[in-house]
Amino acid sequence: FVVKANKLGAEIQPTMYGHFFEDINYGADGGLYAELVKNRSFEFPNRLQGWKTFGKVSVQEDGPFDKNPHYVRLSSPGHAHKRTGLENEGFFGIGLKANEKYRFSVWAKGNAQKILVELIDPYSMGETQVLASGKIEINSSEWKKYELVLTSPVTLEEGHLRIFLASEGNVDLEHVSLFPVDTWKGRENGLRKDLVQALADTKPGVFRFPGGCIVEGTEIEDRYQWKNSVGPVENRPLNSNRWEYTFQHRYYPDYHQTYGMGFYELFLLSEDMGAEPLPIVNVGLACQYQNNDPKAHVPVDQLDSYIQDALDLIEFANGDESTQWGKLRAEMGHPAPFNLKFIGVGNEQWGPEYPERLKYFVDAIRKAYPDMKIIGSSGPNSEGKDFDYLWPEMKKLKVDLVDEHFYRPEDWFLKSGNRYDNYDRKGPKVFAGEYACHGKGKKWNHFHASLLEAAFLTGVERNADVVYMATYAPLLAHVKGWQWRPDLIWFDNLRSVRSCSWHVQNLYGHNKGTQVVPLLMDGKVVSGQADQNGLFASAVWDEPTKTYIVKVVNVSDKAQPVSIEFDGLKKKKLAGQATCITLHSDDPDAENTLDNPDMIVPQESQVAVDGETMQTEVGAQTFAVYRIAVQ
Ligand code: AHR
Repeated sequence: FVVKANKLGAEIQPTMYGHFFEDINYGADGGLYAELVKNRSFEFPNRLQGWKTFGKVSVQEDGPFDKNPHYVRLSSPGHAHKRTGLENEGFFGIGLKANEKYRFSVWAKGNAQKILVELIDPYSMGETQVLASGKIEINSSEWKKYELVLTSPVTLEEGHLRIFLASEGNVDLEHVSLFPVDTWKGRENGLRKDLVQALADTKPGVFRFPGGCIVEGTEIEDRYQWKNSVGPVENRPLNSNRWEYTFQHRYYPDYHQTYGMGFYELFLLSEDMGAEPLPIVNVGLACQYQNNDPKAHVPVDQLDSYIQDALDLIEFANGDESTQWGKLRAEMGHPAPFNLKFIGVGNEQWGPEYPERLKYFVDAIRKAYPDMKIIGSSGPNSEGKDFDYLWPEMKKLKVDLVDEHFYRPEDWFLKSGNRYDNYDRKGPKVFAGEYACHGKGKKWNHFHASLLEAAFLTGVERNADVVYMATYAPLLAHVKGWQWRPDLIWFDNLRSVRSCSWHVQNLYGHNKGTQVVPLLMDGKVVSGQADQNGLFASAVWDEPTKTYIVKVVNVSDKAQPVSIEFDGLKKKKLAGQATCITLHSDDPDAENTLDNPDMIVPQESQVAVDGETMQTEVGAQTFAVYRIAVQ
């Protein structure tokens, strides 16, 4: 390879590598959102779903939160040997860790009443074992919030929560909640720490939310409505989840969206990670898989409230306290703006109904917020064909970026290293918003798929003048409740594992550089075609660390000698040693698992640099990142 050291090319956008979050695979409720109680507000269609009841428990309907009106009444069982109570099963159980504290809270009313709260092991030796317990006195006939902190003495993946009436009389309970005290940044109504850490560790430049298909909804009334996801958490209404059903016809009847982790929390998370927030709003169309259904389309002349939702969202993120939505953000705890720069309209839509509607959003957003960057979509590309129809439409509408999705097999990734080499340099930029190699390996998140993603991303990086963002999808998956795979991060109730694809995205995120540097291979400009001896490569300069970073992906089955020569260094002198980070597995079908999370992780070594040249070898089936500093 020859690095044209003095010819700095396109700037690499700080947003280049990031994350795409969607509530799929129990990614939010039961996942990133640390709430441990399922159906805490008794609003699931089956009001007691997730709960077992004992004695006299009834569902009532005139609770203190108008958007979540249901609650339960615990009444005296009327017999000394009977008890009244209820038990929550959590999301595939309630994960408890030894010596960790859990904050139980509940809205309640009752006159001089008591409840007993227990963390239990429901399956211990055939009988229930109480792990921790405490009493709460309910001392008001008005609705009030009560709290109790319990410490678990043991680690248990599938605990339950029990509440008993511990007095004679009636107690009403609403919004029954249990959170680990130790959430991300110790926030109440917080997020699961290990999962946020796995996201933040990659230094994401952009964070897209809330989806995906859930932006659209199975039917239009099920669409994600951000206004329902802000304000007091107790009064955010339940929404169904498009991922209640999967394409394989599996059915998760308890999969709903509580909006507990809503847009405020998602903006805050973006800020915590230093990522640009990128919310997507509904364009007036339900999920594209429903497009023949008339219920899927909002007539073009009835889009006003949808457009207003988009405008109000920008006000929520950026408006000052004199504005309606800026005021709400400030009241929620964030007086400073979130500094929103990007907004996506529509997700993965097919056909002419999309640009017809998008046009009105673009006009309104441009008029009110001329600097806002608008992201359109080029369709799902599900047959592996490019969407010839939608790209020209996006150009006509002059959106700033186009969201492209590709869940494609290995040969597609192998052939697409040059995908962006000939893209129109004058049109909208690309947001590779959902990519994942769906390989034919024995495992879904196997190493070989991630190696081909690494190869593909060299082409993304070489074309940084066209591609501004790239995010893998889906992001999170519960091992006991997934609807889609592969995924970037898997978890159960206690543990999480970073896939090989996570390591690829992480290596790109930490080595993205600031400018592209031209790279030649055997005298020819590297083009990302698979016939280059199975080698894919890209080079960047990183201004803050004054370092050249060369990435080489060897997809072939043999180790290959590689020399990297720097041409045009002028007065710059390279350090005598380069750092080399490699990701490799002898078994292409191997994957990281919850039981063996570090099976395939990057290895670091040093390589000698002789003046302006570095001689090394890239192992078979290896992704290598070389960092060569200038002294
Ligand atoms: O990532 C899973 C789904 O894939 C997304 O919701 C959708 O945009 C795409 O079809």
